[in-house]
Amino acid sequence: MKPLIEVAIVDLCCNNNIMLPGKMVIADLGCSSGPNALALVSIAVKATRNHFLKFQKPPPEVCVLLNDLPDNDFNVVVKSLVALQQTNEPVCVTGIVPGSFYGRIFPSDSVHLICSSSSPHWLSKASEDLRINHISAYDMDEHVRRERLPVVVEAYARQFKKDFTLFLELRSKDLVPEGQMIVSLAGRHSDELATEISHVWGTVVQILGIMASEGVIDKAKFDSFYIPAYGPSTKELRVIIEEEGSFSIIEMRVHDPTSGMDNAHLTPNRISNGLRAAF
Ligand SMILES: C[S@@+](CC[C@H](N)C(=O)[O-])C[C@H]1O[C@@H](n2cnc3c(N)ncnc32)[C@H](O)[C@@H]1O
Repeated sequence: MKPLIEVAIVDLCCNNNIMLPGKMVIADLGCSSGPNALALVSIAVKATRNHFLKFQKPPPEVCVLLNDLPDNDFNVVVKSLVALQQTNEPVCVTGIVPGSFYGRIFPSDSVHLICSSSSPHWLSKASEDLRINHISAYDMDEHVRRERLPVVVEAYARQFKKDFTLFLELRSKDLVPEGQMIVSLAGRHSDELATEISHVWGTVVQILGIMASEGVIDKAKFDSFYIPAYGPSTKELRVIIEEEGSFSIIEMRVHDPTSGMDNAHLTPNRISNGLRAAF
């Protein structure tokens, strides 16, 4: 996301309507904890500093706000924020904003740049349609699982549409006029669902299914197991953004996280560690 953030910062810094008050508020939604928590906002602060250095003008005061769910380990994040505050130029104040990004988290018209990396594919909750109608997302029987997949995927797609539409509505309130947002999320190249969806969490579900059939875990628990995440196709995402109408798309990129990666690095150990971290 680095080049996209740098371009957005230059755009914002060159926009007199935005820069006149001499302040810039930058937020990261779903910051997590650890080194990634500050990665995006640090890029934005540095790009702001470099822009004004280039034109030998005093940089704006910058306010950096980090958001995640209340259970996030903000203790660690707070300590690393202090380092960011201590950078001399620009003056940088920082804050933590706990809460779901499916609710209001900032005052209206207050944020200039919103970044969110690898987060809005997490739904606000598991699909209501599936839960209310007791339709399990997975089945121990692979054949049943395959048969049911289109219904399950449609229910997830509806929940994603509802959530992402709300996400856009809320962010358009947070942002100042002509503010910008850069978001990355897990998704799919194509609308073909059956094959792609089934392999993402497939391994875990298969294992859980075996554990349920052996009585290691409760079958009722397995039947009510819904992973609250959905990866939309680019087309789906574009339609939602256009229908909601608050944002115009400057650029949409599709990136395969394993492209350019040496296959030797994709070891079973790495894959299982990745899945474990996500769960
Ligand atoms: C995969 S991590 C991404 C962390 C970091 N942004 C990165 O790119 O490495 C997803 C983060 O989104 C947060 N998240 C999920 N749903 C959220 C919500 N509704 N509101 C705020 N944060 C949320 C999770 O707690 C988690 O820290």
